[in-house]
Amino acid sequence: MSVFSLSTLRNLGGIFGILQLSFLLVLLLLLFKAVHFYLSRKWLLKTFQQFPSAPSHWLFGHNLKDEELQHLLTWVKKYPAACSQWLWGNKARILIYDPDYIKVILGRSDPKAPGIYNLLVPWIGYGLLLLNGQKWFQHRRMLTPAFHYDILKPYVGIMANSVNVMLNKLEQFVDQDSSVEILQYVSLMTLETIMKCAFSHHGNVQLDGNSSSYIKAIEDLNSLAFFRIRNAFYHNDTIYSLSSDGRLSHRACKLAHEHTDEVIKLRKAQLQDEGVLEKVKKKRRLDFLDILLFAKMENGSSLSDKDLRAEVDTFMFEGHDTTASGISWTLHALATHPEHQQRCREEVQGLLGDGTPISWDLLDQMPYTTMCIKEALRLYPPVPVVSRMLNTPVTFPDGRSLPKGVTVALSFYALHHNPDVWPNPQVFDPSRFAPDVSRHSHAFLPFSGGSRNCIGKQFAMNEMKVTVALTLLRFELLPDPSRIPVPMSRLVLRSKNGIHLRLKKLQ
Ligand code: HEM
Repeated sequence: MSVFSLSTLRNLGGIFGILQLSFLLVLLLLLFKAVHFYLSRKWLLKTFQQFPSAPSHWLFGHNLKDEELQHLLTWVKKYPAACSQWLWGNKARILIYDPDYIKVILGRSDPKAPGIYNLLVPWIGYGLLLLNGQKWFQHRRMLTPAFHYDILKPYVGIMANSVNVMLNKLEQFVDQDSSVEILQYVSLMTLETIMKCAFSHHGNVQLDGNSSSYIKAIEDLNSLAFFRIRNAFYHNDTIYSLSSDGRLSHRACKLAHEHTDEVIKLRKAQLQDEGVLEKVKKKRRLDFLDILLFAKMENGSSLSDKDLRAEVDTFMFEGHDTTASGISWTLHALATHPEHQQRCREEVQGLLGDGTPISWDLLDQMPYTTMCIKEALRLYPPVPVVSRMLNTPVTFPDGRSLPKGVTVALSFYALHHNPDVWPNPQVFDPSRFAPDVSRHSHAFLPFSGGSRNCIGKQFAMNEMKVTVALTLLRFELLPDPSRIPVPMSRLVLRSKNGIHLRLKKLQ
């Protein structure tokens, strides 16, 4: 045999050896994964014994896709207080929807469930929504003054201006046979409002069209994050970044960040102007972004650029998308219940019919409209579920218990549709919120509760009232019977087929 063929054989033997070794390593890894899968599934099955579950696939779990909310309605009736939901063969959580159960969890200080919330980090970073522990406490204390009464009061006029711009745009759909998908208009309006109020941004978001790509990016991220949470493979960053969803998510995050960076840059530039700076310094209380920028300017501040960006990304998203969902569903509820719509209109006409501008003081004088908004938030909670990971064992009032490490999902959607809490839960009945009607402290939680409740609750309620009041003054709302919206679970509640309304001009 020649020298050449001998060395070729030796090389081939070397390659073969490497292949053998790689094969062995892959086999070992797979074996390790299989054992891990088996043991964690076994642990979960044992742990969740006291919490029944609808039948599910051993690997794909309940795999409910866009039918999650519809299934929830059956589970609430079948499994009192709580049940288990399998997202994957070895990934499961306990869903709770009983007020006493929820009260127990919201009274504790368990962290946000990392397997769920951490997937949002590339998008909104560690802002108030995702932070835990001491840093969350410091940021919450720093940002709470941005929602003080003194700050919120002048926002009512800003909100009214933005709503009127939206209503002017909607005029083109008046008295037509076809309907208009309103969530897109409402989203731009709520984005403009939060940008003007919290970020001192003076542009015309609704008219210049530049922010539509941001809204689209948020729409994509809302769905992509929801599906990522439910796909075990996608929890791995490398696999996700190689997938088409991962690439889309990366592009959407980039777009969202460009939008927020621009807002920060603009405000920083405005504050370079001595006149503006002096005026802001003299204010007793600062707007949201100014609080952050001033905190950064202070010597020794622990607020990094990354922290600041995370807070801006968090509030830009939370501050507009949730309210847009809440407003759109409320308008849909009023369109399908003309008698309640008319009662609200009469109430609003009594206050604003003579041309009086809407103001902070008047917002407290719309009891019926407020009852209708609350009833819509009950039927269509914009944030359908939040999750915690138990950091110590818990025992619920009926004696059932769960160990440390379990993920507990507080399903506000299921709570609000629980027939033991709300008789005839599917019926839109604003009288449930009449002032003399009492209810469990944890029966109605669109804004969650406890220390991690929504910081923007009052802002959101004001914006909803202003929008509903001004819309009812101008239009009669009618449903589109061919496109009745179907609620669909996402991070923020959506409809499978959009939210379509027909508009009639009031005489
Ligand atoms: C109808 C509108 C809104 C609804 C239904 C809503 C609902 C909620 C819920 C359920 C939570 C708890 C989330 C969790 O535990 O994971 C929350 C937290 C939060 N919301 Fe809202 N929200 C609304 C509007 C707003 C607005 C307008 C802002 C800001 C201007 C805002 C900012 C936040 C922030 C920053 C948190 C995290 C608070 C913390 O953990 O300390 N939200 N919201």
